[in-house]
Amino acid sequence: MSHPIELPDTGRPVTVYFHSELDDPLAWAQILTEALPDLRFLTGPACDSPESVDIALVWTPPPQGLNAFPNLRAVLSLGAGVDQLQLDSLRNPQISVARLVDPTLTARMVDYCKAAVFYLHRNFHVHQRQQVRRVWKFIAPVDAGTRRILILGQGVLGAAVAVGLADEGFHVSGWSRSPKGLPNVKSLCGENVLAPALAESDIVINLLPLTSQTRGILNRGFFSQIKPDTCLINVGRGAHLNEPDLLEALDEGKVAAAFLDVFDQEPLPPEHPFWSYAQVHVTPHVASLSDPAHSAATVIENIRRAMNRLPLVNAVDRSTGY
Ligand code: NAP
Ligand code: GLV
Repeated sequence: MSHPIELPDTGRPVTVYFHSELDDPLAWAQILTEALPDLRFLTGPACDSPESVDIALVWTPPPQGLNAFPNLRAVLSLGAGVDQLQLDSLRNPQISVARLVDPTLTARMVDYCKAAVFYLHRNFHVHQRQQVRRVWKFIAPVDAGTRRILILGQGVLGAAVAVGLADEGFHVSGWSRSPKGLPNVKSLCGENVLAPALAESDIVINLLPLTSQTRGILNRGFFSQIKPDTCLINVGRGAHLNEPDLLEALDEGKVAAAFLDVFDQEPLPPEHPFWSYAQVHVTPHVASLSDPAHSAATVIENIRRAMNRLPLVNAVDRSTGY
């Protein structure tokens, strides 16, 4: 499908430099050049004309760094998160940054969190450990409404997960910096409300962005405030979690089970203790991936906006880091 758009006549082709270890350059090249036939799509470690690059479409910074492009107008993240772009090292404050917001990415995150929540809600984590010991022990199911779920982060993804779980009948609260008015979701703001919410939650889902304020938030102090047998779902970033502190909380039985999709070091090294903890469910950063077919329209719109020096869609505030 073609998306004809008008770009200003700069006298030279608009140039996009692509870099990602996860995304398919061919798929992106095809979809972008179909919409913008004059666009130059560059990728690969050797970029012979860095001064021609207008837009960086990247998951992580390329090996030469983003400052290697002296005329860069915009950095378009191939992810919903932008921490991996190391924006603090971007020297030119005029460069605008946008992240991906894509309904498919959101829907996949809702699926992942619902799957993990239902697994825990129906005590599969307990039955799975009983099976290993050949134990036949009945645990009476309870109503979803008796399960209290706390979601850290109420942005695009956290809000969608909150509403999705509330629709399933769970008791859902969402923590954010500013108040929200989501249907059937209790909005919590500020540091002071976190401890009482943690003390009554059965499942905590982390969907915060990684910033200087949220780095390491899932630490010993955090685990000391949760009620016994709380379960954790970390789909934010690995660096939100202090991994040794979680291992300690698991050993002490404070945390009953954890679904971990993101890690300090990815891929998770083979010798990492998480692999062999029965209470830990490891997934390889797959909770939610973007797909060019669904996210290209916004990227194309942002190329148009950047070339016309207009504010970007889904712009990132470089001062807050999300
Ligand atoms: P978003 O729309 O930017 O939302 C961020 C939310 O976090 C907002 O509600 C914000 O509050 C809140 N927040 C930020 N700093 C806070 C703080 N210090 N205290 C309390 N709340 C704070 O982000 P999103 O699109 O929902 O994505 C969230 C994160 O998910 C991404 O940054 C990324 O790390 C992760 N992610 C993971 C995967 C995966 O596959 N595992 C996929 C996509 C994304 P306000 O609303 O008040 O500003
Ligand atoms: C994935 O982790 C993303 O940020 O989109």
